[in-house]
Amino acid sequence: MDQSDKIVVQGVCYTYQDAPDAALCGVDLSVHAGEFLAVLGHNGSGKSTLAKLMNALYVPTEGHIWVVGMDTRNDALVYDIRQHAGMVFQNPDNQLVATVVEEDVAFGMENIGVPPAQMRIRVDEALRAVNMQDFRTAAPHMLSGGQKQRVAIAGVLAMQPDVIILDESTAMLDPAGRREVLQTVRRLQREKGITIVWITHYMDEAAQADRVIVMNEGRIALSGTPREVFPQVERLRELRLDVPPMTELAHDLAAAGVPVRADVLTVEEMVEEVCRLSSKT
Ligand SMILES: Nc1ncnc2c1ncn2[C@@H]1O[C@H](COP(=O)(O)OP(=O)(O)O)[C@@H](O)[C@H]1O
Ligand SMILES: [Mg+2]
Repeated sequence: MDQSDKIVVQGVCYTYQDAPDAALCGVDLSVHAGEFLAVLGHNGSGKSTLAKLMNALYVPTEGHIWVVGMDTRNDALVYDIRQHAGMVFQNPDNQLVATVVEEDVAFGMENIGVPPAQMRIRVDEALRAVNMQDFRTAAPHMLSGGQKQRVAIAGVLAMQPDVIILDESTAMLDPAGRREVLQTVRRLQREKGITIVWITHYMDEAAQADRVIVMNEGRIALSGTPREVFPQVERLRELRLDVPPMTELAHDLAAAGVPVRADVLTVEEMVEEVCRLSSKT
């Protein structure tokens, strides 16, 4: 095990009670310190199960998971583990518990006995980090979906986590909310070195990750950098996933005999590629 890996998943299977088959099986994965890892996969492929195992909400039926070196099988470490690997869920309305934003951000800390003076400092810092300081005394139900998710992220941040796991946390947001949450998380990764596990079904979001894994039937079917994974258009379609639009266009152009690079991910790169090709003719 590499000591710098934040989460290590080794030979993990998980079967829900009364379920005939394992929801997850044979999963090996290391989440490296400071990386932004995207997890893709169609519905039912095991993404949320994996997330809950990483957060010690579930304990593996087989195998082991270590979160910052702590085995999730050890009951005594559950709170420590959740503090080091915080989780943000899909529905912004199910996560906020208090009637005032700053109380909500403080909520998790109250359970772990952070002294009040320290709590005040951490709440302010966390709200600044997600750019919600002006909403300190607002009522959570008045906020937009994107703002609610940023408050939920602040609540996790206040626990000073190593890792934040976000399980389709943009799925219920409008495009502006999605952008604002993704940008916030990327900034936390870059500026605070927080490791991110970003579960999503949006290809354009995964294209921005350092590394992507694709889940299928409870196993890791593909993994690599976005540039390694996304050009595998046929394979991704087999796994019932889309491809980022520009990668798909590059693939179709190549199939039509246009010598375009296969690993184009963004509109900017496509423009560059088209300019390169047209300057040759
Ligand atoms: N609470 C549960 N009880 C029984 N089976 C479940 C439960 N939650 C999920 N599953 C099953 O486990 C598999 C993986 O589900 P999940 O991890 O939620 O996938 P994803 O998040 O990728 O959509 C699916 O077959 C799903 O039906
Ligand atoms: Mg899910």
